Amino acid sequence: MANYVGAVDQGTTSTRFMVFDHDGNEIVRHQLEHEQIMPQPGWVEHNPVEIWERTSSVLQTALGRAGLCYSDLAALGITNQRETTVVWNRTTGRPYYNAIVWQDTRTDRIASALERAGKGAVIRRKAGLPPATYFAGGKVQWILDNVDGVRADADRGDALFGTIDTWLLWNLTGGPNGGIHVTDVTNASRTMLMNLETLDWDDELLSFFGIPRAMLPEIKPSSVSEGYGHTTESGPLGGRVPLTAALGDQHAAMVGQVCFAPGEAKNTYGTGNFLLLNTGTELVHSDNGLLTTVCYQFGEEAPRYALEGSIAVTGSAVQWLRDQLGIIQGAAQSESLAREVPDNGGVYFVPAFSGLFAPYWRSDARGAIVGLSRFNSNAHIARATLESICYQSRDVADAMAKDSGVQLEVLKVDGGVTANSLCMQIQADVLGVPVSRPVVAETTALGAAYAAGLAVGFWKDTDELRQNWNEHNRWEPQWNDEQRAVGYRRWQKAVERTFNWVD
Ligand code: G3P
Repeated sequence: MANYVGAVDQGTTSTRFMVFDHDGNEIVRHQLEHEQIMPQPGWVEHNPVEIWERTSSVLQTALGRAGLCYSDLAALGITNQRETTVVWNRTTGRPYYNAIVWQDTRTDRIASALERAGKGAVIRRKAGLPPATYFAGGKVQWILDNVDGVRADADRGDALFGTIDTWLLWNLTGGPNGGIHVTDVTNASRTMLMNLETLDWDDELLSFFGIPRAMLPEIKPSSVSEGYGHTTESGPLGGRVPLTAALGDQHAAMVGQVCFAPGEAKNTYGTGNFLLLNTGTELVHSDNGLLTTVCYQFGEEAPRYALEGSIAVTGSAVQWLRDQLGIIQGAAQSESLAREVPDNGGVYFVPAFSGLFAPYWRSDARGAIVGLSRFNSNAHIARATLESICYQSRDVADAMAKDSGVQLEVLKVDGGVTANSLCMQIQADVLGVPVSRPVVAETTALGAAYAAGLAVGFWKDTDELRQNWNEHNRWEPQWNDEQRAVGYRRWQKAVERTFNWVD
C-alpha cells in the first residue's frame, strides 16, 4: 500500500517536487531554479528542455533523499505556471522555440488588434478573459507566424501546443514514444481558446488566432480516477505511477487552501499575486476587470468556477530590488530594510513592469516610483515595494467585492512572500481585514497532491481535506480608517501616473 502522494509544482522561477502523507504533512521536497531568458525588453522565455530536466532531477533527488521509490506514491499530480506556451514536434520531441512566458508582452499588437476588430467582447463572453498579452492564444499565434515551418507542421498535426502541464505530462508518459497530449480545464481556461460553458476548444475563438485544432491537446477534468496516463519505467521515477491530477498553480492553491465552497477565497503571493474567489457552479462575468476562470473540476462532477484578480508583479518586485537595484542581498532582507522606517515616507512604487493586469488591464503602463524627496532612502523604497504588493491586492479585492457582493471577512494567504511578516501586517492594514496563513504555506503543491489523491481514493472527500487545514499565523489590522483611506487614495494617484507610458 502506497502511503504518500507526490506533486510537481512547475513555477515561473523554479520547479519543485513535494511528497505528502495522509494528514497533508510534507515528507520531503526538492527545488531547482531555471534560467529566465530576456532577449528584448518585455520578452520573457524559458527553455522547455531545461524545465523537463529540472523536473526529472527534483523527482529523483527528493525521492532518493527520503529513501522512497515510485511504488510509495499512490498517485502523482502536476501543477504549473499558467499561460506559458510551448510548441514542439510530435516525432522528435524538440520544441520549435523557447516557451513564451505568461509575463511576456510581445503579443501586445495581437491583443490590441483583437480589441480594435471588436472581437474582445466575444472573447470575454466565451472565454471569460479580456484580450491581453498574458494568455496563451496570442503566444501560439506568434510562434505560428514567426517561427519557420511551424504552421505547416501544425496543420498536419506534427506540431503540438501545450501549456507547461501538457509538456510535462507528455514527457512523463514517454514523450515521442507514446506520450499523451492532454491538458486540464483550468489550464485550458487561460488560453482565450476554450469556451467556459462547453469546456471545449471553440472554433470561433480558434479562428481569431488562426490556430489549427490539430495542434491542441485533449481537455480533461483536473482530477481523473482512471489517470491521464502513467509515468514510465524509463522515466525519472523508474516505474509506473498514475498521473491523476493537473491544475494551474492558482487553482491548485484553491484546493490546497480548501476553498471548496462558493464565497471562499485565497491570495497567493508568488512572482505575481493571484486572488481567487470560488463562485461554485455559477459562471460569473466581471464588470470590474476580473477574470472568469475554471476553479477546478473533479472527475465527472460539474466544474466549479472562480473570479480571479491576477497581478503580474509582486514577489518579482522584491527580486528586482535584489537583482537590478542591488539594495538587498536576499528576499528576507526586504523585511529588515523596510522595518528601518516607520512608514513609506511618502513614496509609492507601482511595479507595472509588464503593464498592469487586473483590474486595470493597461498594457500601456510602465513602472513608476513617485513621491520622492531628498529625505527618502533605500528603506522607503523597500517599504514602498512591500506596500505595492498589498495595495495591488486591495485593488483586486475591491473589484471582487463589487462583482460578487461578497465582502472578505478574512483573507487566506499562501506563497513565498507570506514569510514576510511585515508585508502580511501591511496587507491586513491596507485591507482592514485579518490575514490568515495556514501551517502548510506550500498550498499549490499540496492542492495538486489533494486532487491527485482524491482521484484514487487516498482521501475520501473534500470534507476530509478540510480537517487538514490549520491556521499558523494571523495578522490583525492596526491602521485606523483614516490612515487606510489616505494611503489608498495616494496609491490610486500613483497608479494613474503609470498610464499611457507606451505609445
Ligand atoms: O498566471 C501565472 C501564474 O500561474 C504564475 O504563478 O507562482 O509561478 O508566479 P507563479
